[in-house]
Amino acid sequence: MTLTAPPEQDIIILGVSGDLARRKLLPSLYNLVAQDLLPSAGKIIGMSRTNLGQEGFINLAREAINEFSRNDLDESVWDSFKSRLIFFPLNATGYALAKECCEEGERVVYLSVPPWAVPGIIVDLHNVGLVEGTRLILEKPFGNDLTSAVELERILHKVFDESQIFRIDHYLGKETVQNILAFRFANSMFERVWNRDAIQHVQITMAESMGIEGRGNFYEGVGALRDVVQNHVFQILSLLTMEPPSKMTSEDIRNEKEKLFYTVQALQPASTVRGQYSAGNIDGERVPGYIEEEGVEANSTTETFVATKLMIDNWRWAGVPFYLRTGKRLARRTTEIVITFKEVPLYLFEDICPGGEIEPNRLFIHVQPDEGMVFTFQAKQPGPDMRIQEVSMDFSYRDSFGKDPAEAYEWLLLDAMEGDRTLFLRADSVLQSWRIVQPALDNPSPIHTYPAGTWGPPEADDLIKPYVWLLDEP
Ligand code: BG6
Repeated sequence: MTLTAPPEQDIIILGVSGDLARRKLLPSLYNLVAQDLLPSAGKIIGMSRTNLGQEGFINLAREAINEFSRNDLDESVWDSFKSRLIFFPLNATGYALAKECCEEGERVVYLSVPPWAVPGIIVDLHNVGLVEGTRLILEKPFGNDLTSAVELERILHKVFDESQIFRIDHYLGKETVQNILAFRFANSMFERVWNRDAIQHVQITMAESMGIEGRGNFYEGVGALRDVVQNHVFQILSLLTMEPPSKMTSEDIRNEKEKLFYTVQALQPASTVRGQYSAGNIDGERVPGYIEEEGVEANSTTETFVATKLMIDNWRWAGVPFYLRTGKRLARRTTEIVITFKEVPLYLFEDICPGGEIEPNRLFIHVQPDEGMVFTFQAKQPGPDMRIQEVSMDFSYRDSFGKDPAEAYEWLLLDAMEGDRTLFLRADSVLQSWRIVQPALDNPSPIHTYPAGTWGPPEADDLIKPYVWLLDEP
């Protein structure tokens, strides 16, 4: 399929001086320009409270691309990209200028701002007259808890129609996350064992070796449960566990996800472990502890690590524990799903291979990096004796498709410009995910420290007993 640029429209990014714009949005837009996938006359209007000025914005964009783009900066692409950039301060004057600049035609307005700034901005957009012709992209977390999320939805719907609202969770733009649907519903073999009869337990790990990267002000009010579990990890969970949709349409998939979230038990504070990193070593380098980071309170109890056990009350999954964990400053960056199947009912090799132990079959889904899958099973070692050894079947994106997956934000920005909401969240499932985490927010469990560069506090290992946390070795 050849991709074509979406219809003519502009993009306004509110909060353009922030981490997300630098790390993901500007590099993704640059790569879309490189692929001729932005509308030919589309402007990229950056706005932020910090008054960068036009030159400052251009410099920031260039540095962001140099540092974070998946492709090196090419001067001719840069010239075309740069000619689209316009900066306005995020204040009344700036809004008026932005309106004047793009009032004709359509536009995407991207709110790359913390959750507490969103309601005010919705009102501002209404007051300045930037509602009609706007597709609004909202970043997670949507609200800060169930009550504020309900209030946010109320404010949003006073101003915008649901068809204009794009709630983004960039994990849904990742090839490996979308591949969960292909894997489950384009293959007959695994779907038959995708249930409580065959699966012993499931683990989902989203580990990062980086810290909060100067985002102390944002992170202090959020923490790992809201930043990652309530959205990225839950989205992975929903695609793994939802029922097959009747058709692969946006609404059918979103209906099944909603039904799934409805059956997920709320998190119990007693089976939720929270951690916070102290100083330690990452890749041989000394890194500071969380409370030494800029913008963080000295007595902060914000968690940078969460591990929790979750149960799903439906016929397919009743009784199967799902263990979820995420953390900053862990030993390495990996997002992985591990599905452990039930053990064989009887070890038949006792007479010929006494005392032998065999590991259950496992499916490792490498969401990132080294995107792919590994299925482990038992085989006979060559030789005169019947010795059993674990072996694996591997699938790697790079080897099979000859390239690494594109950045998730590129596809999601294109989808929003096209008006395709399949990979965006519906309000009902957002509210359900708040319902699930709310007890753990209301009664936060004690905070345990863990040295940077480890796999979190030992209490997380107790949580998963009788199992152990598993990751495929790199
Ligand atoms: C963001 C979180 O949504 O996802 C960050 O706010 C986190 O804290 C990031 O670092 C991770 O994204 P990715 O695509 O690098 O796994």
